Amino acid sequence: MLPAIEWKKNRVVMIDQRKLPLKEIYLEYRRYDQVARAIETMVIRGAPAIGVAAAYGVALGVLAVRSGKDIDRAFEKITRRLERTRPTARNLFWALERMRRTFDASRGLKLADLKRRMLDEARAIETEDVATNEAIGRHGRDLIPDGATVLTHCNAGELATAGYGTAVGVIRAAHEQGKKIRVFSDETRPFLQGARLTCWELDRRGIPVVLITDNMAGWFMRKGEIQVVVVGADRIARNGDTANKIGTYSVAVLAKEHGIPFYVAAPMSTVDAGLATGDEIPIEERDPREVREAGGRCITLPHIAVRNPAFDVTPAKHIAGIITEKGVFRPPYDFRRVQ
Ligand code: MRU
Repeated sequence: MLPAIEWKKNRVVMIDQRKLPLKEIYLEYRRYDQVARAIETMVIRGAPAIGVAAAYGVALGVLAVRSGKDIDRAFEKITRRLERTRPTARNLFWALERMRRTFDASRGLKLADLKRRMLDEARAIETEDVATNEAIGRHGRDLIPDGATVLTHCNAGELATAGYGTAVGVIRAAHEQGKKIRVFSDETRPFLQGARLTCWELDRRGIPVVLITDNMAGWFMRKGEIQVVVVGADRIARNGDTANKIGTYSVAVLAKEHGIPFYVAAPMSTVDAGLATGDEIPIEERDPREVREAGGRCITLPHIAVRNPAFDVTPAKHIAGIITEKGVFRPPYDFRRVQ
């Protein structure tokens, strides 16, 4: 089963998430610029998984350097390319900063030793992410009542991380406790991470899942069919404002209207304590074709203007709790001191 990303014989192997659930195709990369392209084109996506990919991208780039005198210039070129891939997920920049600290601490080592250190650090980022997600699951599972239907949006599962998942990890942990849980998965237009990835993961794990279109959530809340919402995060400002997949904000407002708790599950590496509020979070705008087309076919007139922000920001006031590996934070949030 899975994982979304793996280091194998000096190559990075990823499952092509664009092709799921219809095809399970694994792609291998030997060069850092190929990894950067894989992040941009959504072969791999999800904030923590993007961080792991970026770290392995740096490792690949450094491994290819032939002489110690070129290493500084090469490192800058590699990290600059990887930084430019996707702007919103904090974990990408967090992972690159961590790789830079290792690089700086390895100056003066023989080139072969420096390369080994960089690869070890990337591996550590991957391994720690799984442990972090399991801890998120342990902290979050008690928030899911037995017999509940849980709504989730996008994919914050195994595929979006190095393993286990964040929001889906909370659901999994509750399921592993023996609770009878059902999941409503928003399809998550336009990229369909919910329909294609979350449903696939939950089905493989034997967790009952029902697919709904994004515009059905409010109606099911009104009918009393949803008891709790858990979503992932791409970046959390220090006041708790949270960027996540476009559509999350609407779900949070609907949950508030219906008195349903809305939780965010994310590792501390998603918190950007440098940002006072969510207004400062950069929001990626993606190719209009993702909206204009469905299944490769145009669904509107080709000249119609399209907007395609990939994320939105949910104000902290709508978030009942932020579930992290350090425990569940409750409002008012202040992440200044916790990192
Ligand atoms: O555009 P994506 O698919 O990278 O967006 C992913 C999300 O918004 C996830 O909910 C988020 O990254 C959390 S993944 C654990």
